[in-house]
Order: sequence, then C-alpha cells, then structure tokens
Amino acid sequence: MTKILCMGAGLVGGPTMAMIARKNPAVQVTVVDINRKRIDAWNSDHLPIYEPGLDEVVKEARGRNLFFSTDVEQGIREADIIFVSVNTPTKTFGHGAGCAADLQYWEKCARQILEISTSDKIVVEKSTLPVRTAAAMERILHSGKKGVRFEVLSNPEFLAEGTAIADLDKPDRILIGGHPTPEGQRAVRKLVELYGAWVPKEKILTTNLWSSELSKLTANAFLAQRVSSINSISALCEATDADIGEVARAIGTDSRIGPKFLKASVGFGGSCFKKDILNLVYLCEGYGLHEVAEYWRQVVRMNEYQERRFVARMLKEMFNTIAGKRIALFGFAFKADTGDTRESPAILVARELLEENADLVITDPQALEHARLDLADGIDRVTFESDPYQAARGAHAVALLTEWREYRTLDYQRIFDGMVQPAFLFDGRNHLDHAKLHAIGFNVYSIGKAALKHF
Ligand code: UDX
Ligand code: ADP
Repeated sequence: MTKILCMGAGLVGGPTMAMIARKNPAVQVTVVDINRKRIDAWNSDHLPIYEPGLDEVVKEARGRNLFFSTDVEQGIREADIIFVSVNTPTKTFGHGAGCAADLQYWEKCARQILEISTSDKIVVEKSTLPVRTAAAMERILHSGKKGVRFEVLSNPEFLAEGTAIADLDKPDRILIGGHPTPEGQRAVRKLVELYGAWVPKEKILTTNLWSSELSKLTANAFLAQRVSSINSISALCEATDADIGEVARAIGTDSRIGPKFLKASVGFGGSCFKKDILNLVYLCEGYGLHEVAEYWRQVVRMNEYQERRFVARMLKEMFNTIAGKRIALFGFAFKADTGDTRESPAILVARELLEENADLVITDPQALEHARLDLADGIDRVTFESDPYQAARGAHAVALLTEWREYRTLDYQRIFDGMVQPAFLFDGRNHLDHAKLHAIGFNVYSIGKAALKHF
C-alpha cells in the first residue's frame, strides 16, 4: 500500500489530502502538524477551517485511509511520498524583509526528512515557493550519506479558499514539475497516477521543476493583476459617469479577455496574492530585472491605493469627520465563504478608520475570531457582534467589505430605521441592490459607480 505523508495541516494540506484520500481508498494518507491544537481539531467534529463541503470529505475518509497526527517522525519513516505544505510567509526580518519568502519552516522540514528517512522517498513541494527552491531542497536532501534516494517534485496547488472542495474535485489542471531523468520521470508518473484517480489525464500537465514553480507565482500574479486593473478603472469611473459593472461586462464579452475576475472591489486579500507577487518581485530583482520587478510591484501598490481610496471616500462623504461616529463593518474575511482574514482589505480599512477616531462594530458570519486577533492593539474602540442588525444599530454608516450571501437578504429597512440619519452605506463589493437601498433612504456609495445621494 502506498503511504503518503503531508507535513502541514493548513488550508492547503488539509483539504488537498482529504480529497486525495477520498479518491484513492487504497492509499494511506497521513497529515502531520507541529501544532497539536490544529491536529486535535482535524480529528474532531469542529475542523480548524471553514470550507463548504469539507466536513463530508473528511468524515468519509478519516479513520479509513486518512489520519491526522502530531507524530512527524513516524510519518516520515513510513512514507513513500511526502508532500511539504508548511507556511512560507513573507520575511519580516533581514535580507529581503517585506518581499522574500521566509523559508525557515520549509528548510526545517527538509532537514527533518533527511535525518529520519531510512527508505527512498518522493518529496513534493506543495507550498508556493520561490523558483529554484527545489534545487535548495535537493541540496539538503542529497547531503546525507545513508544511500537513501530522494526525488523532488513540484506540485503547486491552485485551489481558492471558499471553493476549495469544488476546485479540488474538478481542477482546471494539475501541474507536476519534475526532472527529465528516468528517476524524475518515474516519480512524476507516480503522482500522475494518484491524481489520475479522478482527474482526466489531459488535465494533468507535466513540466520541468522550474516551470512548475514559476507557473504558480505567475498564475497568482496574473489573477491579482486583473483585479488591480479593474480597480484602477473603477477610480476613473467614479470620476466620470461610467459604471464599472457595465465596463466589466463590455470588456469581459471579448473572448480574449473573458468575464472572470473582473469584479471591482475594495481590494484583493488572501494569503497568496500579495505574498506571491512580492516573491516574484524579489526574484526579478535578484536577476537584475528591475523593470519587470517594478511592473509587478505596481499591482500591489494599486491594491493598497484602492483600499485607502475607499476610506478616503468614506471620510469625504461623511462631512470630513468620522471621529466618535459608530461605523459598522459588514464582513471581515478577505472573501465570502471563508473565515480567513489574512491580508483582508478589511484590516487596513479598520485601521484607517480607527486612526480617524471612529468607533467600529465588526460583524462577520465566520471571521470574528480572526478579526479580534488582527485588531488586538486597537480593541478598546472595536466591538465584535455576530448579529448584523445589532452591529448597525445606532451607526452612522455601514461599510460592506465581504460579499457574504446573507448580506443580500437582510431587512435593510429595519437597519436604516435603527441608524443615525443621514445614514450612509458604502458597498465595497458592489454586492447589494443600490437602487432599493437608495429608495429606503440610504446614501449609497459603491465601487466605480456614481453615488446615490439624498443631498
Ligand atoms: C488565490 C487563487 O485564486 C488560487 O488559485 C491560489 O491557489 C491561491 O490564491 P484565494 O486567495 O483563495 O485564491 O481567493 P481568490 O478567489 O483568488 O480571491 C483573492 C482576492 O481577490 C479576494 O480578496 C477576492 O475578493 C478578490 N477578488 C477576486 C476581487 O476583488 N475581484 C475579483 O474579480 C476576484
Ligand atoms: P497554507 O495556507 O499554505 O496551508 P498554513 O499556515 O495554513 O498554510 O499551514 C501551514 C501549517 O504548517 C501550519 O499549521 C504549521 O503549524 C505547519 N508546520 C510548520 N512547520 C512544520 C513542520 N516542520 N512540520 C509539520 N508542520 C509544520
């Protein structure tokens, strides 16, 4: 029986391994993590992450051929294939701080694999890593003298949070990078077989290691670039009488452009986009490609501009002062259907509003716990409230920052009646029925559209 180990039980490792186990009942999959609380949660009825459909997949395979454990050493010893899916955050210190990837957790894994292994292994990079990281991993793994053979593959994950299970079930493609040597190709075939259990063969792309690593960074950079591009045009729409929804539809019907990822918003968030672009920037700079680096850096700058612009507009429209005003933030997660708040635009928006001395009430169906941690330093001026009606009570303004479906069907007349007048609504996701809100009496501001005011 093939035995698989995954190091790192995070948002990538957990769901991906659950799906592999579900689709390959004859393969034993173990997910390990150094964080005991996380593993306990994976073994309980309350999984550590909120992801639609995940519970069923885990329940089906857990205890059968899917196991969660903190015993990293035993896991390594027994495994034929080891996926490394540990965190690779942006460095906060030293050379490349704020840009390069922090590879300390990842390198520790490589050293631990080398130290403990007594049989040949395929080691698969699942975390997003800078290009040529596999070479460093190989150097570490091949520094041992025990005669154990390691073959390193790159197999980046393209799932998006909130739709992880659907993305894993029907991926656009699976990407596997390996060496062109016979051993490298044998390892690639093993991984192809694993995914072939449910993914059509023509959707499994094989490339060399470096193309695979670079493709992951490039895919995220292109996606983020689309959001920054449409957001840049949203600023122009607000200055003219153009409507960003109409512009997006008009350009999206061009089959060369396509309709997806053209939703103007308060900004993109998530653990990947900013980190991966900065990674790409650092990589380009390392190779002396300064113009290329600068080109991609602008995508991140445009995103920060969009977030600040949102707050600046709130301030301007609310008579240039929000000090002491109660403002309700509807949503804190970086997108709907996740409790994740990493790099959420809501963090910067909340901080800027606090700097203006506003009183914040934050509501979110899944992300309040994380929001509390994100704003721990300014917490005396922030209230966390699970009921959106309570959150909006006595508020001067509601700012919608996450496109949760339930925010569409709230009773906005009731919300309006409980607010301080004139009531303001800032829709950072163009998610609500603006004409209806305006008819109720709200002064409505959205992204890239003319404001609907009563004065
Ligand atoms: C992304 C990639 O999509 C995925 O392939 C990769 O594996 C990890 O990074 P994720 O960050 O989970 O996934 O979410 P995604 O759906 O890409 O959204 C990222 C951010 O962009 C969110 O804040 C979202 O609200 C925002 N966004 C997305 C927009 O503002 N407008 C859009 O049109 C699309
Ligand atoms: P991602 O979103 O990429 O999945 P996360 O930060 O959610 O990233 O998860 C990474 C996980 O990797 C964390 O739970 C962390 O505890 C775990 N981890 C870090 N180093 C190791 C290690 N050496 N062995 C096992 N797990 C590790």
